[in-house]
Amino acid sequence: MSIVNYSLENKVALVTGGSRGIGRAIALTFAENGADVVVSSRKLPDLEQVAEEIKATGRRGVAIASHIAKGEESKNLVDKVKEEFGRIDILVNNAGTNPYMGPLIDAEEWAWDVTMNVNLKGPFLLGQMVARVMLEQGGGNIINIASTAGINPSSLHIYSVTKAAMIMLTRVMAMEWGKDNIRVNTIAPGLIKTRFSEALWKGTPAEERAAIPEDVAGAALYLASDASRFVNGQTIVVSGAGAGGME
Ligand SMILES: NC(=O)c1ccc[n+]([C@@H]2O[C@H](COP(=O)([O-])OP(=O)(O)OC[C@H]3O[C@@H](n4cnc5c(N)ncnc54)[C@H](OP(=O)(O)O)[C@@H]3O)[C@@H](O)[C@H]2O)c1
Repeated sequence: MSIVNYSLENKVALVTGGSRGIGRAIALTFAENGADVVVSSRKLPDLEQVAEEIKATGRRGVAIASHIAKGEESKNLVDKVKEEFGRIDILVNNAGTNPYMGPLIDAEEWAWDVTMNVNLKGPFLLGQMVARVMLEQGGGNIINIASTAGINPSSLHIYSVTKAAMIMLTRVMAMEWGKDNIRVNTIAPGLIKTRFSEALWKGTPAEERAAIPEDVAGAALYLASDASRFVNGQTIVVSGAGAGGME
């Protein structure tokens, strides 16, 4: 076999926000490249559809409902994945939200709390729980989904702050866990055509230019596989050099 290896054969992956958009594309790409995949988000019926699509690739697909901002639910999620597969090789912290689009000057406390809890506290807690499993099994791979809005200030305000913090969370995790054979990297997508970002592209010139979820999935496959075995603590920007980006 070539030294450069993109295969995820015999790997178990957990993808949050796996019911649609970028998470779904990553889950299916991982399955197509040999991984068994658990998808989680809040709504089970949507997840079950994706689990069926995963099974159609010949891999095992499992749907587990879990709210990313609730630590107890993440604990239950990790326990269930361990029960089902005995290990977790890859975690993609992809679930995210942006409930308030307005400027900081008008932002209310609830908007700060919800955005921070879903985009930052949840990925931290789940990352910590999964890293403990990875430590026991001798290593693993975590991919955090940030945004170009976390690199340059954007019109998404509080969301931008959470995604900047996600990039530093990744670097601190990588610094702390790299010696234990756990790699942690970030993907920072620009504007990607999904339901989440519809208000930013629908009916605008960006509708023609914006990337699709599969464009992010390619970067995720690289980071999840041994092809990137010496890449740790880094951020890959997927924005077409700014075309349709959130900068
Ligand atoms: N689209 C873009 O332009 C873009 C650009 C840069 C970064 N991103 C980031 O990419 C990630 C995925 O976004 P997307 O565009 O694919 O959005 P999407 O199509 O709206 O999908 C969001 C996913 O997250 C899940 N989710 C939302 N809140 C959750 C919660 N509290 N707990 C658990 N799951 C939750 C949703 O499922 P349920 O409703 O079932 O919970 C869904 O599976 C996000 O982190 C987003 O910030 C997106």
